[in-house]
Amino acid sequence: MASGPDSAGFHQILIPETNSTNDECLNLADLGAPDGTLVRALRQTGGRGRSGRSWHSHPEASLTFSVLFRPQPREYPYLTRFTLLGCLALARVLSRNFGADPRIKWPNDVLLEGKKVSGVLVETLWQDEIPSALVLGMGVNLNDQALPPQADAVYPAGSLEGQAHIHTTPQSLLEYLLPELRRARELLPTPGFIEEINTCLAFKGEWVPLRTNTETALWVRLISVADDGSLWAEGEDGLLSRRYSAEISG
Ligand code: BTN
Repeated sequence: MASGPDSAGFHQILIPETNSTNDECLNLADLGAPDGTLVRALRQTGGRGRSGRSWHSHPEASLTFSVLFRPQPREYPYLTRFTLLGCLALARVLSRNFGADPRIKWPNDVLLEGKKVSGVLVETLWQDEIPSALVLGMGVNLNDQALPPQADAVYPAGSLEGQAHIHTTPQSLLEYLLPELRRARELLPTPGFIEEINTCLAFKGEWVPLRTNTETALWVRLISVADDGSLWAEGEDGLLSRRYSAEISG
């Protein structure tokens, strides 16, 4: 079921079931779908998360959708910011529309009361070294039925209802999110984007265990998100370094 662009400029497509909305958007990108094409699925059977993990969801208890962006040349230097764009849009909705106090857990999660309520997965298609399409997929746990079995959760999971007594539906939450996604995209190539991320960054100034591909967890003090979307962190030796690919452990 496709329609014209909505008031925020998105072309929404609602499908009953798919393996992954990211895959749907990547296929639509190959077929020439325009910027702002958005696929929401009621049921996702093979949802994907970061680092090859799976993403657990439930038809009424989860919002699962992906947006296709056609990056503009002025956005090329800022592609690494797109994951945070999804986090920022949701954080703004939760604080402005629902009075909650969300935190963005670098690099791709949103936390409420210290529990992960949402994750973002960005995948990019390249043509002749140009990003022809970027797909931003987002999953949000609306209530506890959406939570993965405890053994599957790499970080403690929570939901909007469980952590902040927010009662909403997938479509209603999406309607709040769309203007915020558009606003965050306008802010993306500006210094204000990273400033906003840093105002609601989880664990800022705190010592946290950080896992990288090559190392077991090391303790760092989390300083801020840098302009390029990487993480400034202080090591136990007092030295500052940027982390590009790592994960704050639970
Ligand atoms: C993560 O936390 O590791 C990222 C999770 C991203 C899940 C969303 S749900 C909609 C979209 N489709 C997918 O297959 N994954 C993303």
